[in-house]
Amino acid sequence: MKVAIFGLGYVGTVSAACLAKLGHEIIGVDVSSVKVDQINAGASPIVEAGLAELISVAQSAGRLKATTNVFDAVRWADVSLICVGTPSRPNGSLDTAYAQKVISDIGSALKESTSRHTVIVRSTLLPGTTVGVLQPILEEALGRACGGNVGLAYNPEFLREGSAVKDFDEPPFTVVGGIDEASISDAAAVYDGVKAPINRVDIPEAEMIKYACNAFHAVKIVFANEIGNFAKAHGVDSHVVMDMVCQDRKLNLSSYYMKSGFAYGGSCLPKDVRAILFGARDHDISLPMLESLSHSNELQIHRAVRMVLAQKKRKVAVLGFSFKAGTDDLRESPTVEMIEALLGKGCDLRLYDKNVSWAKLMGANKAYIESVIPHISNLMVPDINEALAHAEVVVIGNNSEEFAPALQTTRDKVVIDLVRLRGLDQTWLEQMGEHYQGICW
Ligand SMILES: NC(=O)c1ccc[n+]([C@@H]2O[C@H](COP(=O)([O-])OP(=O)(O)OC[C@H]3O[C@@H](n4cnc5c(N)ncnc54)[C@H](O)[C@@H]3O)[C@@H](O)[C@H]2O)c1
Repeated sequence: MKVAIFGLGYVGTVSAACLAKLGHEIIGVDVSSVKVDQINAGASPIVEAGLAELISVAQSAGRLKATTNVFDAVRWADVSLICVGTPSRPNGSLDTAYAQKVISDIGSALKESTSRHTVIVRSTLLPGTTVGVLQPILEEALGRACGGNVGLAYNPEFLREGSAVKDFDEPPFTVVGGIDEASISDAAAVYDGVKAPINRVDIPEAEMIKYACNAFHAVKIVFANEIGNFAKAHGVDSHVVMDMVCQDRKLNLSSYYMKSGFAYGGSCLPKDVRAILFGARDHDISLPMLESLSHSNELQIHRAVRMVLAQKKRKVAVLGFSFKAGTDDLRESPTVEMIEALLGKGCDLRLYDKNVSWAKLMGANKAYIESVIPHISNLMVPDINEALAHAEVVVIGNNSEEFAPALQTTRDKVVIDLVRLRGLDQTWLEQMGEHYQGICW
């Protein structure tokens, strides 16, 4: 393919060199004539392991050149990759001015063109920016809508400076979102030869994935440092601890505990977070991230309460209120906290959880239910249909298998799902429309 790459910084230069290595013909475009001249002389404008050699080889072979002329580059290429900077403004907001300028220039260059050309945005952008900000600018410059001979896709870059060439060659995956199938196919074709799956998602999801990854990296670093500071204060080698933590691929480095949804609870997590914070205070250690956990967790409970109250209906059923499916343990269940808040606001509740019903009759938690939460115990019903018959609003509190089939016949109620219940029928979801609401989806 003939690829025009806008922005010869870290992302653009590495992409140019690596795509040339894959056999594409590349033209780099930058406002800096110094960078353009360096590429045309076969030299790298940035320092990055292995990059200088790749640029030199590609430029000598005639597969890599650069220019400051947008029109010539765009009219020559099949696709344009936008890799310009999107820096922070002083208030933290994202400055998309360079991306806006480039996409406008590309649109103007394509105004009279009838050949197929797809614009692929690689710069990091907040969700909604490509479709909400860049697409209108592109269409204004084109003088027509995208989707005819001009495609538009978003394709985030995950390389790390220092190992950028290796990261480009061996990404975990390639993420592509596009305004239509043709745009997605054009963007995917750029990565033919890269041994990684192509994951197709919506454009805002593609934009968001990049932020989720970088936020998670930042969280991991701060977490490891806070654990390290705590460990050192207690005479423990944090590297032994963290090495072992990372060896657990079942719970720790896995998708477990990584599904967006409701608050954490149960007999261990809240207690152990409190204990570690006490242990930190005891040693004059500050652990701001770990200290923030219970506050954030409380806010998630309030969010669920607000979602229910926003329906302006009093009759509420809660399906599943132990802290997770398959257990009768109610200690520090965030759902119990939510139920108490709804009771306080005057809701008329019915609660159903088959494990808790069993526990109420004969389990080890019988005493807990009778002495600590009698006000909640009284609201329990033994049959899921009794709870549903009562309700105007149904709250799904855990992922018990019996809930999805029972909801199937429910059309006239609002369903608030705190766990993204498995097994929900797609047609039912479409019929429910706004009447089905996920807590964070
Ligand atoms: N650096 C990284 O490790 C990395 C990794 C993944 C994603 N990203 C994202 O990729 C984007 C680019 O990052 P970068 O670090 O390569 O930026 P950079 O600042 O190194 O390079 C940006 C380049 O764009 C050029 N440019 C600006 N306006 C232009 C225009 N109108 N036409 C042509 N070129 C123009 C600049 O001259 C500069 O050479 C950013 O959104 C960034 O967040 C960066």
